[in-house]
Amino acid sequence: MTCGIEHVQDAKVKAEELRFEISRHDYLYHVKSEPEISDAEYDELMRRLRAIEAHYPELVSPDSPTQRVTEQLVEGFPPVEHRLPMLSLANAFNFAQLQAWHKRASALAATDKFEMVCEPKIDGLAVALVYESGRLAQGATRGNGFQGDNITENLKTIRSIPLQLQGQRFPEQFEVRCEVYMPKPAFERLNETLIDRGERPAANPRNAAAGSLRQKNPKITASRKLDVWIYQLGWAEGDGAVPPSHHETLEWLGALGFRINPEIKRFKDLQAVEVHYRTWEDRRHDLDYEIDGMVVKIDQKSLWDELGYVGREPRWAIAYKFPPVQATTKLQRIAVNVGRTGSLNPFAILEPVQVGGVIVKQATLHNEDDVRRKDIREGDTVIVQRAGDVIPQVVGPVLEKRTGKEKPYRIPKKCPVCSSEAVRPPGEAMSYCSNISCPAQIFRWIGHFAGVMDIEGLGERWISILLERGLIKDPADIYSLTKDQLVAIERMGSVLADKILKNIEAAKGRNLNRLLFALGIRHVGGEVAQVLAAHFHTLDALMEASAEDIRNVEGIGPKIADSIYAYFRDPQKRAIIEKLRKADVNFDYRRPKRVEGPLGGESFVFTGTLASMPRGKAESLVASLGGEAGNSVTRKTTYLVAGADPGSKIQKAESYGITMLDEDSFLRLLREHGVDAA
Ligand code: IVH
Repeated sequence: MTCGIEHVQDAKVKAEELRFEISRHDYLYHVKSEPEISDAEYDELMRRLRAIEAHYPELVSPDSPTQRVTEQLVEGFPPVEHRLPMLSLANAFNFAQLQAWHKRASALAATDKFEMVCEPKIDGLAVALVYESGRLAQGATRGNGFQGDNITENLKTIRSIPLQLQGQRFPEQFEVRCEVYMPKPAFERLNETLIDRGERPAANPRNAAAGSLRQKNPKITASRKLDVWIYQLGWAEGDGAVPPSHHETLEWLGALGFRINPEIKRFKDLQAVEVHYRTWEDRRHDLDYEIDGMVVKIDQKSLWDELGYVGREPRWAIAYKFPPVQATTKLQRIAVNVGRTGSLNPFAILEPVQVGGVIVKQATLHNEDDVRRKDIREGDTVIVQRAGDVIPQVVGPVLEKRTGKEKPYRIPKKCPVCSSEAVRPPGEAMSYCSNISCPAQIFRWIGHFAGVMDIEGLGERWISILLERGLIKDPADIYSLTKDQLVAIERMGSVLADKILKNIEAAKGRNLNRLLFALGIRHVGGEVAQVLAAHFHTLDALMEASAEDIRNVEGIGPKIADSIYAYFRDPQKRAIIEKLRKADVNFDYRRPKRVEGPLGGESFVFTGTLASMPRGKAESLVASLGGEAGNSVTRKTTYLVAGADPGSKIQKAESYGITMLDEDSFLRLLREHGVDAA
C-alpha cells in the first residue's frame, strides 16, 4: 500500500486532517444520524489514513479511528480509581415520593424556583470517560463507585464515543459519565446467534452489554453493536466554558460531539414533570433500548453543592422508577436455603410464568417477616414482579383465589441442612443457623471466599469434594492444601492441581478490601469492604478498632459496625484469621495503581520527534515500567520529553516547573530501569 507522501511532516499533517474529517463523519453518522457522505466515500477516507499509517507507523496514535478495533487481545482490565466517586440515585416509586424529594430539596435550597431536567433512565452500565486535550484518554466501569476497571480498548469500539472532540474550546481534562447499552434489536440478534451456536442466551440487554464490555478480544465487543448515551459531566480541569446549568452542559457536550439523548427535557415545576413521566410509562416500549424510569435532576448546578449528598446519593437528583412488570402464578412451595452468613433465606417455588419476557420459576421472599406481613402462603396464587435486573419477587397473594386450605408460613425452627437450632437475633428480620460448622453455610462461605479472592479453578464442584474429604473446614484451610491431596482426587490431574495451587498462591496478595468482603462478615458487601479498607488500611487496625471507632466511619451504619465488631470477637473467626496470617495472606490495603513498576506515579508527556523510536513505542516503554504517558502537559505531569522540533508544550511545562528531558536523558532514564531501547 502506498500513500504517495514523501515527507513525514506532510504525512503527519495529512493524517491529522483525515482523522479530523473521519471523526466528523463518525459524529454525523453515529451521533446525529445525518450522514453527509456515502459509505464508499467514508471507506476511501479510512483507506487513505491507513495507507499513511502503514507507511509511517510512528504516526499511528491510539486515538486514530484506525485504532478503534485493535488486533491485540486485551490482557486484563486493570483497576482505576475514580477521581470523583460514581454515585447512585435514590428512588421514587410514586408521585408522593417524588413530591417528598422536591419538598426536602426546596427546604434545603430555601427556594422552590428551580427548574428540573428529566432524562430517560437507561438500563445499561455506567461508564466514565476521561478526555485529555480533546482526546479520549481512558474509559472505566463504575465498579464499586470508587474504583472501576479500565476498559478503554473495548469502549473505543463504540463508534458514537468520540476519540477526538469537535470544536476547539473544552477543558484541558474532563470526565463525562454515560450509560453503555445494547439496543433491543442487537440483543435479539445476539441471542439468536448464541442459541444457534448452542450457547446460553443472555438474560436481558443489560447483561448482554456487560458481558460484551468484558471481552478480551475487542473485535467481539465491536461486533456486539453497543451504543451510549452521555448524561453527566463528571469533573473538569482547566478553562473550557462549562455552562452553569445541567441542561446547557448537556447541550454543550452535544456540540463537542457526545451523544446526548434527544428525549431529555427541562421543566419549570413538578406537575409538568409528572405529566411527562406519565407519557413515558407507555411510550417506553417504543424505544429501541430499555429504560426503567426517568431521572429528575435539578438544573442549576450551583444548588448541587448546597444540597449535597445523603450517603452515596445526591439530593439534587432522583430516579423516578416505572412500575415493574408483573404476572400471576401459583406458589407451589416455600423452600429455604442457607446463605454464607448462615441466614435462612425463604424463596418461592413457582409454576413457571413469563414476566417481562423472561420465564420465572423461583422468586425471593426476603425473610420470614416479609412473608408474614404480605401473608403469603403455600398454595396461594401470587403476583410476581421483575424490575430491571433485580431478582424476581413475590408481591403478594391474590386473596380472591384462596381456597381456605393455605396455611400461614413459619420459618423452620431448625436449619434445613444440619438440623441445628435456628436463632433470630433481636432486631434482625432474619433467622440464622446457629451451627457455625453447618455444611451449607461453610460450603457457601468457602465458595464466596474463593470467588471474591478470585481463586480461578476452585469452583463449587471441587469445594464440595474437598469438604466431603475433610481436606478443608473453613476458607483458611484452602491455603494449606498440598499437591498430594489434590492429585488424589478423581479427575484432578497433576496439571490442574498445579494450576489451582498456583492460583491459590496468587490470591494471597489480593487487596484488603477483597479479603474483607471474602471473610463473609454479616452486612459487609463489596462497597462496605472498600470503605473499611480505605479507612483502616490494615486488617489489624480494623480488628483492634472499638465498635465506636467503626460506627464513626462515614458510610458505616450502627448495625454494620456492630456486626463487624462482633465478628472479630468470635474466637473461631479469630483462629481463621490467624491461619490466614500464617499462610502469608496480605492484610494491608494498597491504593490501586495502574501498573506496578519503578516509574509508578510518574507521568510523561512527549513533544517533537524522537530519533531512536516512534512515540508510541516510547509511551509503551513508560507504561511497561509503571508510568503514565499523556498527550498534554498538566500540573500532574512529572516529565516532558522533548525530541526534535518540539511544540508549545515546552513553554507550558516551563511555566509549571516540570522536569524536561532531552532524548539522551530519557534513554538514560530507561537504561537505569533496565530497558535498553536505543
Ligand atoms: S445520573 C449522581 N442519569 O442509573 C448522579 N444516571 O441509579 C449519577 N443511569 O449509576 C447518575 N440513566 O448507571 C444518571 N440519565 C441518567 C441515567 C443514569 C441511567 C444509571 C447510572 C447510575 C444509575 C443510578
